Amino acid sequence: METTAAEEVFVPDVPPNFGQLLQSRRVEANLTIAALAKKTGLTRNTIVNIEQGSTTPSPQTMRRLLAVKALRLLETGTGEGPSVEAWFTKAYNPIDLIDGMTALLNGPGGRIEQTYLYLDPRSAVDYFVLCNTAEYVAAYREKIPHDQIAERIIKESKGVGLDVDGLGCGDGKSETALIQRLADRMPEPPDLQLYLLDISHVLLSEGYRTALNSLAPRRIPVFGIHGSFTDISKNPVLFAHPLTVKRLRVFTLYGGTFGNINDEPWFFQDLEACSQPGDLLVIDCQLVRAPADQPELIRAAEPLLKNGQPPETHHKFLTGPLKRHCEGLTHIKLRSVLSPHCLVPGSYAIEFWGDVEVEYEPKRRFLIQRVKRYDLDKLSTFLSTLGWKTLQTWKYGPGKLAGVLLAQRQ
Ligand SMILES: C[S@@+](CC[C@H](N)C(=O)[O-])C[C@H]1O[C@@H](n2cnc3c(N)ncnc32)[C@H](O)[C@@H]1O
Repeated sequence: METTAAEEVFVPDVPPNFGQLLQSRRVEANLTIAALAKKTGLTRNTIVNIEQGSTTPSPQTMRRLLAVKALRLLETGTGEGPSVEAWFTKAYNPIDLIDGMTALLNGPGGRIEQTYLYLDPRSAVDYFVLCNTAEYVAAYREKIPHDQIAERIIKESKGVGLDVDGLGCGDGKSETALIQRLADRMPEPPDLQLYLLDISHVLLSEGYRTALNSLAPRRIPVFGIHGSFTDISKNPVLFAHPLTVKRLRVFTLYGGTFGNINDEPWFFQDLEACSQPGDLLVIDCQLVRAPADQPELIRAAEPLLKNGQPPETHHKFLTGPLKRHCEGLTHIKLRSVLSPHCLVPGSYAIEFWGDVEVEYEPKRRFLIQRVKRYDLDKLSTFLSTLGWKTLQTWKYGPGKLAGVLLAQRQ
């Protein structure tokens, strides 16, 4: 039997006592059923039925209830009784994902879906180590201009509450840093919520704990979503707020997560569906070393292309999935090549390929990772065609070769 988009959303974590929870939080918030109905656009009957436990809320209904911050339905780590602490989208099915990865790595070669790079626990840990080397942290992570980004977000938000959606959050350090800077600029208690979404259970757990440790003392709710950013338009927690709720969403893609998106135009079309005018978007990315249409200049300027190989520091992360999952593998040789085949105008990618030898089999070639570089002006023009207007950009890091773009949904 075919399923509709709404049925595909898998919401196992509506607690069995959700009706009771809703009722107690509504009363604590001094909201009558009529007032809650007005805030959410739900009928009084729907609310009564949920509170009495005779109806399980649909994803759309949940979205409306979760958006009412006074209900504190998403609060975690406060030890004050039940809450909705975890959310799994249907696409987040680790058994299927691991099976898919194993099949691909034992196939004839070709492109490895970028999501698979972070899937197995060892891969996630190897990535965690890579992005936390002292060198990388000092050069990039500590240089992200969070203060300036927060300043501008606060200016655009005009005093309304903010829901920050950290897409592909990894260890959550950058999202947490941004939230702290936002909170510093808001009246106490800050009207902020943080949603962290990642495909890797290992990284999401780390990100969730990092965020909770820093933000729970400030009573900022943190919420973990196990899911894919290719699937955001099926995830009610990330849907656009109903018009009755005056809050803004701030979607963030930090630390090269943007470069992990295979089809940027499709991604922004989904993001447009999940947002409303005024919502904000923070993209943190690496910048082009030379114009995308000048391959010779790029080859001369790109450290990742210099020896025709990815840096030694990346070998463990890049070869790990093949070494662990490709049966009969005897040898892998890595190489890096320039690819002009990118969808965002002005951008290019450095591709890391693995030439793989397997017993009794012809050689296989796998495209393991694509690291993308963007031109901020051309990225802005591209985003404007998809409904996002650039408000400000910043360059940072060594040689100002990393950049952040803040855009607003029109
Ligand atoms: C390049 S890392 C960046 C991590 C983090 N934002 C940072 O600043 O270090 C990409 C992150 O996106 C996650 N990721 C990759 N594919 C994903 C997908 N399809 N859906 C959700 N997360 C994904 C990875 O697990 C990883 O945490």
